[in-house]
Amino acid sequence: MSGNLATVSYIGAIILFILSLGGLSNPESSRRGNLYGMIGMAIAVLATVLGPRVTAAGIPWIVGAMVVGGSIGVYAARTVQMTQMPELVALMHSLVGLAAVLVGFASYIDTSVAHTGAEKAIHEAEIYIGILIGAVTFAGSLIAFGKLNGKIGGKPLLLPGRHWLNLAGLLLVLWFGREFLNAHTVAEGMIPLTVMTVIALLFGIHMVMAIGGADMPVVVSMLNSYSGWAAAATGFMLGNDLLIVTGALVGSSGAILSYIMCRAMNRNFISVIAGGFGSGAGKPAAAGAGEEPAGEVVPVSALETAELLREAKSVVIVPGYGMAVAQAQHTVNDITKLLRERGVKVRFAIHPVAGRMPGHMNVLLAEAKVPYDIVMEMDEINEDFGDTDIAIVIGANDIVNPAAQDDPTSPIAGMPVLEVWKAQTSIVMKRSMASGYAGVDNPLFYKENNRMLFGDAKKMLDEVLSALKG
Ligand code: TAP
Repeated sequence: MSGNLATVSYIGAIILFILSLGGLSNPESSRRGNLYGMIGMAIAVLATVLGPRVTAAGIPWIVGAMVVGGSIGVYAARTVQMTQMPELVALMHSLVGLAAVLVGFASYIDTSVAHTGAEKAIHEAEIYIGILIGAVTFAGSLIAFGKLNGKIGGKPLLLPGRHWLNLAGLLLVLWFGREFLNAHTVAEGMIPLTVMTVIALLFGIHMVMAIGGADMPVVVSMLNSYSGWAAAATGFMLGNDLLIVTGALVGSSGAILSYIMCRAMNRNFISVIAGGFGSGAGKPAAAGAGEEPAGEVVPVSALETAELLREAKSVVIVPGYGMAVAQAQHTVNDITKLLRERGVKVRFAIHPVAGRMPGHMNVLLAEAKVPYDIVMEMDEINEDFGDTDIAIVIGANDIVNPAAQDDPTSPIAGMPVLEVWKAQTSIVMKRSMASGYAGVDNPLFYKENNRMLFGDAKKMLDEVLSALKG
């Protein structure tokens, strides 16, 4: 393939990536968005492999690597559970970071292309910055992976003087950067480059270790952004425009997503990165932990729940992480269909950080074929709870916790929540009194107009459905 054809293909791929991002912003166009992304990536890979910079001798190596990498990717995508998706994403970000580090070292060692004067300085600065971002992304993503799958505790690790440690690390990176740029030979430059890589790896570990469980979604999205910048840096090192543009797209969209998520949790981005907030996942709440129970709860049966639903005119369903675990979305859709056929106004309320990844609930509801027009964002529906007869909370906890509004000392204080307690009756469906991801007790459970339907969400909803039919 000629250089010109490769460039045209790259431009086509870039346009498809931009269209893909546009499509993914809306559930109705998201399939099309995915398709554009897949076609764009296929064109990008083909244009690179068949392009002028790959020699015939290199092709078997590339094809071999693609077969191995592609098989691992297909296996991972097929076996991963929906609830493990954030872990998989974190692991993939770590690979982008690792690639940036390896490409950086390879381009430094590769002396086949001679750089002199200002060009040499720019090339080496690209290498240094690329390896720096790549190493932070690699180490940070591995720790995020460990925290998300529970191998590393969710509690923030707060070393004494941690901000000073970070500052010292930054100053050392700058100093070694100067040493690196002043080095006369590759062997001489390898020392500051390697030391900086170790500092960047330690910084990545420290940065994510200091961030608590409740802030992990923001961290994953922030690492997504870093992986984009790492890819862009790799693009600069290799002189590959497509990689620069794609990396910048991922970097900026990840940054925007982090900002949106911080706003949804009423958290300041800098305070998230500074760390120290949020505890482990799934701790028993006060009532189950042997401490003073925070109040009385009123349990209901599936039969009673069906009775309440039968009398309701308007119902709002709030899905959360537990619905994903129980895979209850199809039964939820069956109940929704039945109630709508009987003239009940049914809508869904989606919190921006419900579940374990952005858009988690939207994906599950779309899979179960819930109509898009009854799925509402938090801002669209929060004011309507006052006019709602029944709010059913299915395996959600933190996102409906009134302590976020009422208790300034709560770890989730200030996080916007779905105000289900304003409905005439709220019904919370979960297995026990255990807390949610942020590990905090939920005063909603003890409210007078709240009922608890204890049990696995799928099993309970099946019982509600058969009671409704009967
Ligand atoms: P959570 O607060 O984590 O609560 C989920 C609840 O589901 C738990 O209290 C659990 O109680 C219940 N549950 C688990 N398995 C169940 C099953 N089989 N049947 C019925 N209930 C079940 O979830 P949420 O309200 O969706 O809030 C999300 C939380 O995750 C937020 O704190 C958010 O910051 C965090 N987070 C979000 C993301 C993104 S981007 N969405 C990513 C990572 C973390 P039992 O054990 O008693 O059943």
